[in-house]
Amino acid sequence: MGEGKIIKEQLKQSLEAIRMRLEFEQYFSPEGVPLGNAASVKAPNPKKELFEKLLEKAKKCQLCSLYKTRKNLVFGDGNLDAEIMFVGEAPGRDEDLAGIPFVGVAGQLLIKIITAMKLERSDVFITNVLRCRPPSNRNPLPEEVVCCRPYLTELIRIIKPKIICSLGKFAAHAMLNVTNPISKLRGNFYDFEGIKLMPTFHPAYLLRNPQDKKLVWDDMKKIMKYLVNDKA
Ligand code: URA
Repeated sequence: MGEGKIIKEQLKQSLEAIRMRLEFEQYFSPEGVPLGNAASVKAPNPKKELFEKLLEKAKKCQLCSLYKTRKNLVFGDGNLDAEIMFVGEAPGRDEDLAGIPFVGVAGQLLIKIITAMKLERSDVFITNVLRCRPPSNRNPLPEEVVCCRPYLTELIRIIKPKIICSLGKFAAHAMLNVTNPISKLRGNFYDFEGIKLMPTFHPAYLLRNPQDKKLVWDDMKKIMKYLVNDKA
């Protein structure tokens, strides 16, 4: 075989080796472990996996004593790809029984607000500052807020909403580390880890003070405008 032919043959063999290697890497890890049949492997959903991991952690959480008295963990509910996340204070009796946030009377009003925004409950994500019900619906204690804060922060990092709407004084104070009255905080945009946060009144407050529903609607209009402009 002439020298030219030998070089040509070597080149051919090298190309074939590269082709085989690339084919191998489609099915096996560099250590030779099979990756599975590509067609049968489900596309990974990192948000769902991270959410479920955090949920499992929260189910075992004993950082504060509320796990002893709760019936169910109320972790959060809704769309992991939600643009809007609502954050309330803490589960009440109905939520503790259901394991789902905002299912009682205040929740029904929140859903009315969401519907008025031309959205459904399944479009948004709803959670609370606390994931366990304080006994007899007492106010959350500062140490409970501190213990539960990493779960809220991590949830927000996983879902990455475009905007957070905090409901009531407790949620605004816990998330913004301020103590101003909610009547002064509401209606303005703040920052929570690079995400816009709009505090507004809690639906339970609105049930007692229906005259302020208009103010909450003003806040929701600001949220909707922000989302529309963000898409433009
Ligand atoms: N109030 C809240 O703050 N959260 C709930 O889940 C229910 C009522």
